[in-house]
Amino acid sequence: MFAFCAGLSLSIMPAAVRAQAEPYKTFDTRPVITEGPYLVALSDNAVSVVWMTDAPSHAKVRLSNGAEVREIEPQVDGLVPVGLRHVVTLTGLAPGTRYAYEAIATRVVKLKPYWPDKGLSTSSPVAAFTTFSASQPRASFSVVTDTHEDTARIGRLLKLVDWVGTDALVHLGDAFNWVDSEEQIFGKWLRPTIAAMGPGRPLLYARGNHELRGAFARQLSGYVPTPEGSFYYSRAIGPVHLLVLDTAEDKPDDTNVYAQLNRTQPYREAELAWLRTQVGSDPHFAHAPFRVVAMHQGDWGALPDRGAAWTALANHAGIDLVLAGHQHVFSYEPPDKVHGYHQLTLGQDQLAHVDATERLLTVSVITDQGAPVYTLKIPASHPSSPESLP
Ligand SMILES: [Fe+2]
Repeated sequence: MFAFCAGLSLSIMPAAVRAQAEPYKTFDTRPVITEGPYLVALSDNAVSVVWMTDAPSHAKVRLSNGAEVREIEPQVDGLVPVGLRHVVTLTGLAPGTRYAYEAIATRVVKLKPYWPDKGLSTSSPVAAFTTFSASQPRASFSVVTDTHEDTARIGRLLKLVDWVGTDALVHLGDAFNWVDSEEQIFGKWLRPTIAAMGPGRPLLYARGNHELRGAFARQLSGYVPTPEGSFYYSRAIGPVHLLVLDTAEDKPDDTNVYAQLNRTQPYREAELAWLRTQVGSDPHFAHAPFRVVAMHQGDWGALPDRGAAWTALANHAGIDLVLAGHQHVFSYEPPDKVHGYHQLTLGQDQLAHVDATERLLTVSVITDQGAPVYTLKIPASHPSSPESLP
């Protein structure tokens, strides 16, 4: 019987013994796990596991649901990836199920055409996570935004999170001023974030406008990968259907500063088409007591129609709440004739905690000193229907 406790190895046979039995050359060298493992974009049936090693390695995740142990090994075009950054996407998971996992990296010393030289394996400590479920009675997540490379800010905010009562950490974007390097991604954001979350809590990330800028912006998705392979996705979390959107840049593509290197307009059109399908056909969305959008720019971003099509879709679909950042200061607007949903913009030095049951969704916003800022309570109510969307 498998027990969930830190330090327990899921291995059946020690790595050194296995390695000695292999016909190829195996050096007595192991990779060191330098970052992670951490979980990104958990859903009710999938999650991305990411970690880094100091030396080229190939990777797998050993996973146990308590009854059976299986190993998930990625391949790209038929080859096992070898590198320093490891992404293993776990799919086919059962909803609402607790899994224990180990991130395992095996050193590749030299990639020769035949008989590559190998090394030994390193395993992370066993950690556990629980998949979301459409039928879980509560949804509970904490939200930060616009941390903008301020690690002291990240530390102050995440220290205030009640991790035991939090299903996930949502980051609403602009973790950076611009994206320059791998070391920056870890040093200014993921390292202090993972230290607070631990290896068993997932990060749900909505890209901010600053994250489309810089020499390393095109690599960012490799560090916050989603099982869907997209920066926008939806999650069924009990009473909450959460739509994480990418509002991309805050200026049109033809703005001179982008030197014709941005094509967010067709990207956003594809995202809108996805959203239309999502709210029109997803059974959990149709029946969820609360439909919540988490995105960086509360006005949907820089769009030719100033977001009119998105607002119309959100109104028609019965979105209850938009959670956004970008402005760096708190604001709240109740539903009105223009938008039929609550709009809450979180400040830069604030933490929001969202807690929802079938009947009530509560957003509690506090400062980085723990002082209350605002509490929003939304009772469950859906006058509109997601059918016949505009
Ligand atoms: Fe922003």
